Amino acid sequence: MTAIAPLTTRVAWKALAAHYSQVRHLHLRTLFAEDATRGERMAVEAVGIYFDYSKHRITDETLTLLLQLAEESGLQARIDALFRGDKINITEKRAVLHVALRAPKGHSIIVDGEDVVPHVHAVLAKMANFSNRVRSGEWKGHTGKPIRNVINIGIGGSDLGPVMAYEALRHYSQRDLVFRFVSNIDGTDFAEATRDLDAEETLFIVSSKTFTTLETMTNARTARDWTLTTLKHPAAVAKHFVAVSTNTEEVTKFGIDTANMFEFWDWVGGRYSMDSAIGLSTMIAIGPEQFHAMLDGFHQMDEHFRTTPFERNLPVLMGLLTLWYNNFFDAQTMAVLPYEQYLKRFPAYLQQLTMESNGKHVTLDGTEVAYQTGPIYWGEPGTNGQHSFYQLIHQGTKLIPCDLIVFAQPLNPLGRHHDVLLANVFAQAEALAFGKTSQEVQAEGTPAWLAPHRIFEGNRPSSTLLLERLTPKTLGALIALYEHSVFVQGAIWHIDSFDQWGVELGKVLAERIIPELESKAESPLTHDSSTNSLIRHYRKYKERST
Ligand code: F6P
Repeated sequence: MTAIAPLTTRVAWKALAAHYSQVRHLHLRTLFAEDATRGERMAVEAVGIYFDYSKHRITDETLTLLLQLAEESGLQARIDALFRGDKINITEKRAVLHVALRAPKGHSIIVDGEDVVPHVHAVLAKMANFSNRVRSGEWKGHTGKPIRNVINIGIGGSDLGPVMAYEALRHYSQRDLVFRFVSNIDGTDFAEATRDLDAEETLFIVSSKTFTTLETMTNARTARDWTLTTLKHPAAVAKHFVAVSTNTEEVTKFGIDTANMFEFWDWVGGRYSMDSAIGLSTMIAIGPEQFHAMLDGFHQMDEHFRTTPFERNLPVLMGLLTLWYNNFFDAQTMAVLPYEQYLKRFPAYLQQLTMESNGKHVTLDGTEVAYQTGPIYWGEPGTNGQHSFYQLIHQGTKLIPCDLIVFAQPLNPLGRHHDVLLANVFAQAEALAFGKTSQEVQAEGTPAWLAPHRIFEGNRPSSTLLLERLTPKTLGALIALYEHSVFVQGAIWHIDSFDQWGVELGKVLAERIIPELESKAESPLTHDSSTNSLIRHYRKYKERST
């Protein structure tokens, strides 16, 4: 790794800090009034995504400086290292090659002296074969009935991607198959997912990169018991369980035949894995052809990111804008607001992608960062959000940059619904940016005492991402856009966006507490007084229920 000047000492960073104090009060009303072409100039169209970033609190100089920061941060070299398969996940000594998962046949990406692309396509072919057999009814359960229900058991990246993609692409799914997703260790998740299902017609996909994750393995064992309670014979496992994992040994130990295992590799991060075999449920739902269309969307965005000059590069622009608010305006959060019901799980998916990646407090060399890293991502589909939390975005005291995502063509055309939906998203972006002045409020005859309440300050930044239609391909492009935007931010913050040590401590402590909760004996407790007291109360309440 070449030495790089600490972020806050870079020329562009200092220039941005100075520039921020000059432009922080500039209003979008002024910026638009001064430049009639701003709306067209500050927009880029690539891979089917029209990205309007004109409603951001930036000038041309802001952009120049942000782009300079990207250069000074060695972003191009980092992008090249990513695509080359360098071990840029330095704390886990791993390559980060989700881009290889969507590399077309014939491409070549070498990891540890071996071309991984043929392996990716071999697994895709195996997935396609299996998916087709389930979809056609050729794959039979233990008693000879075809599979009707597919349940993915996984958590984090082994759940959020599959459930998001299934919901997003439900329109393209085979409707006579039922898909459910069990992630939570809370027994309710499993119980509710299976209560109306027939074990004879149910297939479980146990998805876990490590195949050791407590929640997933507990749910998988419960699923096996549930299946065997009905089907009685251990041989049923082979017909009702498949695994997606990197860990052949643990899969075998669980009792799943490795012939029914779909492999992926340690160079695929959990939160970057939905287009690997972890997407098996997605492929069963939409079919191999549509799955490949999704991979094509991912790949096209990869190529755009890899080859396009930064000033027209969607993920670069998106990443830089996020950083601008995060590090100069001290914005704490980012709202992702899809105006598309099928994307209802997209914000939850993005939370892991963005926050597990960039929620880091030290740089690659282990020094404490002297600046803010990853913002909090959150959101809900519009227009529901408008009737709950938009009040705070419009008139609260916090600055919350928003991503508004919308598709021009409805998948379910219904009367005037879609025009009304689109009118809402455009109106919200307009209201956020331009607000309503006191003159406008007064001109409406609002009494003086009420006027302050009705003023919209405006100057609330947003990006609008307008796509033609939600398809597997555009979904792939959209996800890759966010993946690479996260990469851009992490590269500039000089952090490891691909490890997740912050999830470890809680797991270790839980393993220690489990026997203390399960044991009937009043074993002595040696935690802090709060944890001890909570455990005692839990034991007491638990006894009352038995
Ligand atoms: O706890 C976090 C995490 O390690 C995620 O990064 C990962 O996506 C998830 O757990 C699930 O891990 P696995 O696929 O190994 O079960």
